[in-house]
Amino acid sequence: MSIETDFPASAKLTYLNAANVALMPRSASDYVEAWQRDIAENGSLNFDEVAEDLVFDEVRGAFAKLIGAGATDVAVASSASEFVSSIAWAVMPAAGTRIVTTDVVFPSTSYPWARVARHTGAEMHYVAARDDVVDEEELIAAIDDRTSVVSISHVEYSTGQRFNLKRIADAAAHVGAFFMVDASQSLGAVPLDVREVAIDALVTTSYKWLCGPFGVGLAYISPKRQQVLDPGITGWRSHSEIYDLQAKRCVYHNDARRFEFSTMAYGCAGALAKSIEYLQVIGIPDIMNQNLALADQLIKGISGLDIQVVSPMSREARSSIVSCKFPHIESKTVVQELGEKKIFVSPRRDYFRVSPHLYNTSRDIDHLVEELTAIGKANRRAPE
Ligand SMILES: Cc1ncc(COP(=O)(O)O)c(C=O)c1O
Repeated sequence: MSIETDFPASAKLTYLNAANVALMPRSASDYVEAWQRDIAENGSLNFDEVAEDLVFDEVRGAFAKLIGAGATDVAVASSASEFVSSIAWAVMPAAGTRIVTTDVVFPSTSYPWARVARHTGAEMHYVAARDDVVDEEELIAAIDDRTSVVSISHVEYSTGQRFNLKRIADAAAHVGAFFMVDASQSLGAVPLDVREVAIDALVTTSYKWLCGPFGVGLAYISPKRQQVLDPGITGWRSHSEIYDLQAKRCVYHNDARRFEFSTMAYGCAGALAKSIEYLQVIGIPDIMNQNLALADQLIKGISGLDIQVVSPMSREARSSIVSCKFPHIESKTVVQELGEKKIFVSPRRDYFRVSPHLYNTSRDIDHLVEELTAIGKANRRAPE
């Protein structure tokens, strides 16, 4: 295993953008390329009905191991957003009850619930962030007797704020609310074990910290909820015997696989299994420590510059994401100028978001700090 060989782009670019799209290890990109080429050249010759039936086994296994779940407690589709929609329709919170989320959550974690709420007469309750950071106590206090659902991101996409899932799960369980976690901005970079936290449903996308290709969503549904949920999105793969293909007959799996419903870019699912296996060989706690050390180096490196860090600073609420802004320079301009120097970060809201991952080194952070210093000097504020 060598980062330079496994992530060839890391030698050419200062790529600090995993919260948007991460680099993929060679084992994963080779897999998806070979898979697509085989289909293009041979059609179904090497991918018959038996293979199609078993096609998710590998990624289900890798994902289940990553989060401490059983292999039938997880399901595969094409995006995290699809799963949130399917789960929201399945839960169907009743009229007069409340769905608690935050007003800075990623839209895929709130829109599907709002859609179902419009249909049933349930209410959305968005806990308001201050300076884009949510007070965890306020979030917990908002979970009351009226609450039927709590839907949050483990790590917020914008500031990287990390919630204490156990505390929120306990508050949700106390009032019998359904607890859904979007772990798209944490899995692969932050340890999460569903045996330690009472999560009812967890979803994640593939192309961020898990270092997979675009086009895969994964979900975990707790054994307690699996059999009572009737998925909101169904299709031919909803039937446990996928090649039964009878218009009038659909027998769901008695487990989370009932949330699978369609054909998808199957090669991407296999590639994601390779990425997850790659991350697990290194170990998620080690990845988290290394990423946090890079984030610390960045925060220290810019401390003398006219830059404000928007992300929470306490250890418990931090992730690998560091969002910051120059008070007097547009963040879009900063991102563009960094891009010209082959440093990749994202503009989000009015700040720029830096998100280092396992393939980054302290040299990448030095490079970024150097360029931010230069940008700050070139755009020095006029004396008042
Ligand atoms: C927290 C979160 N959830 C979901 C998504 C989108 O996932 P998908 O593209 O698989 O629907 C994103 C993308 O930025 C995200 O940040």
